[in-house]
Parts: sequence; C-alpha cells; structure tokens
Amino acid sequence: MAFWFFLLLAIASLSTVHAQLPTTDGYVSIDCGISSNTNYTDETTNIPYVSDDGFIDTGTDHTIASNYVDSSLEKQLQTLRSFPNGSRNCYALTVTPEQKYLVRASFMYGSYDGLNGASPSNPLLFDLHLGVNLWTTVNITKASDVHRAEAIFVASADSASVCLVKTGSATPFISALELRPLKNTIYPYANATQNLVLFLRINLAPTTNHLLRYPFDRYERI
Ligand SMILES: *[C@@H]1O[C@H](CO)[C@@H](O)[C@H](O)[C@H]1NC(C)=O
Ligand SMILES: *[C@@H]1O[C@H](CO)[C@@H](O)[C@H](O)[C@H]1NC(C)=O
Ligand SMILES: *[C@@H]1O[C@H](CO)[C@@H](O)[C@H](O)[C@H]1NC(C)=O
Ligand SMILES: *[C@@H]1O[C@H](CO)[C@@H](O)[C@H](O)[C@H]1NC(C)=O
Repeated sequence: MAFWFFLLLAIASLSTVHAQLPTTDGYVSIDCGISSNTNYTDETTNIPYVSDDGFIDTGTDHTIASNYVDSSLEKQLQTLRSFPNGSRNCYALTVTPEQKYLVRASFMYGSYDGLNGASPSNPLLFDLHLGVNLWTTVNITKASDVHRAEAIFVASADSASVCLVKTGSATPFISALELRPLKNTIYPYANATQNLVLFLRINLAPTTNHLLRYPFDRYERI
C-alpha cells in the first residue's frame, strides 16, 4: 500500500516537470561556513544558497582540506561550521506554524581541522536534534564520506531549531542545512505529534546515473 502510494506520487511529480519549472519559493538553503557576502546560486540546481550567519551566532567557519575537493563535489559540502564550544548549538529556522516541511542536514568532514580524524576505529560521533527530539546520531568513519540526515515535520511554532549536540570527544559540525515546504497532505504519517525520519529512498527507474533532485522533484527530495 505504502509502496504504491510513493510510486504513484513519484510518477505524478515527474509528469508535471515539463509543464512548468517548480518554484523555490519557501526554500531555505543554507551553506554553512560561507560568509554573508558570498551568497550564491548553485550552478547545478539553480537553487540560491545563503550563509548561515543569519541563523546562528556560535561556531567557527572552516573549509575542507583541498585534497578532498574535486569538480564533482557540491559547493555546499566544501565549507562547514564547527562547534568547539558548548554542548548544544542550534540553528533557528523561521517556519509557518502547521506547515509541513522536509529538512535535510549534510555533513562532510574532509579533514577540515587537518587532523585526519575520522576512521572506523575512531569515528566522529555527535547527535543531531530537531527541536527537543533526537533526530539522528552522526557517525563519520571516513573523511570523504557525505552524510545526509533528513526528516519531515509539521511546524508547531514560528521557529524550528536544528541542534548539534556534543556527546563525546568529537567536535560537532555541519556543512549544509536545507528546508523545503511540503504540501500538507503528503506523508500523512508526519503530523503534529510525530516526525518522520528518512530511512532509505530508492529511484526505481533510473534513466541516468545522476541523482534526481530539484527541479525534477519539486520538493527537492534526492
Ligand atoms: C546573505 O544571506 C544572509 C542570510 O543568511 C543575509 O543575512 C545576508 O544579508 C545575505 N548577504 C547578502 C550580501 O545578500
Ligand atoms: C570558545 O570559547 C573560548 C573561551 O571562552 C573563546 O575564546 C572562543 O572564541 C570560543 N570559540 C567559539 C568558536 O565560539
Ligand atoms: C559507526 O559506524 C561504524 C561503521 O559503520 C559502526 O561500526 C559503528 O558501530 C558505528 N557507531 C555507532 C555509535 O553507531
Ligand atoms: C499522528 O498520527 C498518529 C498515528 O499515525 C496518531 O496516533 C496521532 O494521533 C496523530 N496526531 C495528530 C495530531 O493527528
């Protein structure tokens, strides 16, 4: 049942692509670690990204080590903000109460601190919270890995917080934070009292090896 629902939804959203390019209205796209005078429009997706300066007061900006940068690496993953101080550091996102949202956080370590710190025997571990709820534990075992956490929630107030929580010796950090308003009727399991966390999303009929995202999916699911 759920399978067919999602499949039909995917077909329905694909078939509308050519009629009209979906708008990015309401998207909040934050490239963590860039300065506020370097906001830009992503060349691949055409989505505008802004600095995180307007969303958080703590932490320090970093760039990943140059040996982890190549031309195929998304610009959003090349910089990050890390939080050496405090056990809990939060981004405050402006939202509309009762609106449903998809929120995605991305993490790429890239030895930004020059310590070559992530390995299977010594993973970088810290927690990500959505408001007061544990969203996921970020577990980085390789400097070149890209981690993405995604959730769907219904806003209960006019601000939603995404918090990086120190749980051990690792310094929490974040590379990008993206918020996409959803139609309130989709993903009915996400409601005012329960959030959905992404487990797995599969493209059942890939025609290319490329990732599908905006504008082919108006909600920018990847
Ligand atoms: C870049 O975006 C931020 C939002 O984080 C905003 O506060 C800032 O004014 C923008 N900077 C420019 C130069 O447009
Ligand atoms: C961390 O705290 C120290 C000591 O209070 C301070 O000097 C430093 O600027 C802080 N760093 C950040 C990134 O907030
Ligand atoms: C982190 O990931 C590694 C490799 O997948 C795994 O062996 C380890 O148990 C994970 N640690 C935690 C605390 O989840
Ligand atoms: C959210 O959905 C769950 C079951 O999926 C239900 O038990 C709960 O009452 C719902 N909450 C609201 C506010 O509708």
